[in-house]
Amino acid sequence: MTGRLEARGIRKSFDSLAVLDGVDVLVESGQVLCLLGPSGCGKTTLLRVLAGFEPSDEGQVLLDDVAVRGPSLALGVVAQSGGLFPWLTLRDNLAFGPRHNGRSDVDAVVDELLNATGLNGFDGSLPRELSGGMRQRASIAQVLTNRPPVLLLDEPFGALDAQTRLRMHEWLRALLGQRPTTTVLVTHDVEEALLLGDQVGLLSGRPSLITKRLVVPFGAHRGRHTVSRPDFVRLKAEVLDQVLAT
Ligand SMILES: Nc1ncnc2c1ncn2[C@@H]1O[C@H](COP(=O)(O)OP(=O)(O)O)[C@@H](O)[C@H]1O
Ligand SMILES: [Mg+2]
Repeated sequence: MTGRLEARGIRKSFDSLAVLDGVDVLVESGQVLCLLGPSGCGKTTLLRVLAGFEPSDEGQVLLDDVAVRGPSLALGVVAQSGGLFPWLTLRDNLAFGPRHNGRSDVDAVVDELLNATGLNGFDGSLPRELSGGMRQRASIAQVLTNRPPVLLLDEPFGALDAQTRLRMHEWLRALLGQRPTTTVLVTHDVEEALLLGDQVGLLSGRPSLITKRLVVPFGAHRGRHTVSRPDFVRLKAEVLDQVLAT
């Protein structure tokens, strides 16, 4: 499985509320697409449709050219609030999926992800004993235990302070560099989209469709040094204008 994700003409309403108005998405294997849109425009709805959690009224989602008809371990989803079980330790949270799937190497999978997320030493902690940034890393690690070719992230760093968020951006880029995973990340934060995306799609207000697409020109090595680059500042201002105009 290569993890090429495509959505064609996705329309979705809740009763009389039209939310998605024909959204097309194409993410090539190992690429990161950031979808940027205002609050309430339908970002979570779109991600849930991509994840197979929610049927669309029209259109289809294809993973490696095969229609997605429901949730699948190939589509790793991290919801806005994360997915950790509050009553389980970090280790048991990460071990939950592999154990459930009858894997024989549960400890090795968990140890590797604790390392990759910088959370070793905290494996006996409960989620509430972790900082916000650690909890978000843990939620992503929990989904990665299934080795999904596709990762769907719903505003994963939205609740964090600006400094922690920047650290998380550097961390996620490094993680995806080590284990290329087709990723769709929805956000309302322009800087986040430009730091993390290979491509950015702008969602209009509701009912939403993608009104602009851009290929992010800042290369693979992005981080805190990138945000002060004149070309970054310029593009950020330009995209912000487009977001505010929608
Ligand atoms: N299950 C649902 N039933 C009814 N309305 C919903 C449901 N889910 C979302 N909505 C509505 O759809 C719109 C888009 O919601 P959402 O996808 O959560 O937006 P975003 O994530 O961009 O903030 C909102 O007006 C919301 O109230
Ligand atoms: Mg949302």
